[in-house]
Amino acid sequence: MAAIDTENNRGLWSSKIGFVLAAAGSAVGLGNIWKYPSVVAENGGAAFLLVYILACFLVGFPVMIAELTIGRRTGRNPVGAFKALAGDKKIFGLIGAWGIICGVMILSFYLVVAGWTLGYVFEEIAFFVGYTGAVTVLKDVTLGWKNALFALLFLASTILIIKGGVSGGIERANKIMMPALLVIILTMIVYVMFQDGAMEGLKVYLYPDFSKINPQLVFAAMGQAFFSLSLGMGALITYGSYLSKKQNLPEAAAYVTLSDLGVAFFAGLLIIPAMYVASNSGIQIFTENGKLIASTRLVFDVLPALFHNMGTGLGVFFGVVFFVLLGMAALTSTISLLEVPVSYVIDEWGLSRTKAALTVGAVVAVLTTIVAFDINWIDRLSLIFNDIGLPLGGLMICIFLGWFWKTESALLEIKEGFEGLDSSKFRTLWPIFITYICPVLIAVVFGITIFNLF
Ligand code: PHE
Repeated sequence: MAAIDTENNRGLWSSKIGFVLAAAGSAVGLGNIWKYPSVVAENGGAAFLLVYILACFLVGFPVMIAELTIGRRTGRNPVGAFKALAGDKKIFGLIGAWGIICGVMILSFYLVVAGWTLGYVFEEIAFFVGYTGAVTVLKDVTLGWKNALFALLFLASTILIIKGGVSGGIERANKIMMPALLVIILTMIVYVMFQDGAMEGLKVYLYPDFSKINPQLVFAAMGQAFFSLSLGMGALITYGSYLSKKQNLPEAAAYVTLSDLGVAFFAGLLIIPAMYVASNSGIQIFTENGKLIASTRLVFDVLPALFHNMGTGLGVFFGVVFFVLLGMAALTSTISLLEVPVSYVIDEWGLSRTKAALTVGAVVAVLTTIVAFDINWIDRLSLIFNDIGLPLGGLMICIFLGWFWKTESALLEIKEGFEGLDSSKFRTLWPIFITYICPVLIAVVFGITIFNLF
């Protein structure tokens, strides 16, 4: 455990880079490598990429600063944080409560996919060793007991790390794995570019067809931005609550946004071309009329196909290393997802860290087992708690901060660790974004989406 903040007796991140890595570790995960490429593929490639980048900078980045500020100002979990700032208007605690619900529900499906990454480590080994029976079992993403087994294993590892506390557990886990993941992705991009079909994929990913921009695409881009940046549910309020006053919040948020966007961009650069390579070699990725087949399994179909073509030595190396690192990236995200309800239970119910982790863990274990046996829940839960739930949380955070707590009060907090605040453009722009631009953009996207349903 790192230094203790005597004022409110909470753990603190031991260093600046430690915090940025932990927050980036929360952000970078399956959202970047499993979800992002399939939303890109479903929404017409480069056109989506463009709208996605805008969503990250215009909405995600300002909201991230808002969350970190609320967290550091109050030093509390999301429910406690809103209650502390709202004075007698305790109703605002509900924003935090909604976040905690979203976190638990997202974790429940996230663990199943995280379990797949673990399963695929063994699948790759089994494939190259020639255990075809094991390969069939491990590849079967609909196999309930296998899904449950790996998801629960993943949950158990998450609980173990969470029990270790803020800096001892979370921080240490992030330092090596993230850079390693990026290196392996970059190496694989180089490999893919030399395969037949890759150029077609590259064009789809980088050459925008603006006619593909429609309300459904914008809705998907916004949900994806919140999910990938870990926003809207208080994960960064919680991480912010462990931050020291010496840190520059907008700067930290910029690092996190850029690294998350960077990893997603490169994951797309790998997986979209790899889809076309796989399709070229006879693996069915699209239906007759060009629709994507089973987007939840896209990455798990496309990448092993690539590894298997590399030949035994290289193939087993890349296959195993990639899925191990992806599992690690997922782990740093499940840690942050679980830390939100756990910090709530510690602060508000007075349980010890260990008891809190086990209690929340038990609830999540039940939910994730249900998802494991019927993976259609992944899409359902992701629509409600991610695509709708997180931007809704973000909207409420903006309204709360902009109209009740007031950006002036938030700026006083931001000033700590940000010497030049008063003379910066940030000081004028950020309040405008939080009070007007972000909430209006989120509300408009929701409005148009609902309008289109009828
Ligand atoms: N951002 C994580 C990812 O991309 C998922 C996540 C969402 C984590 C919300 C925390 C909170 O995989």
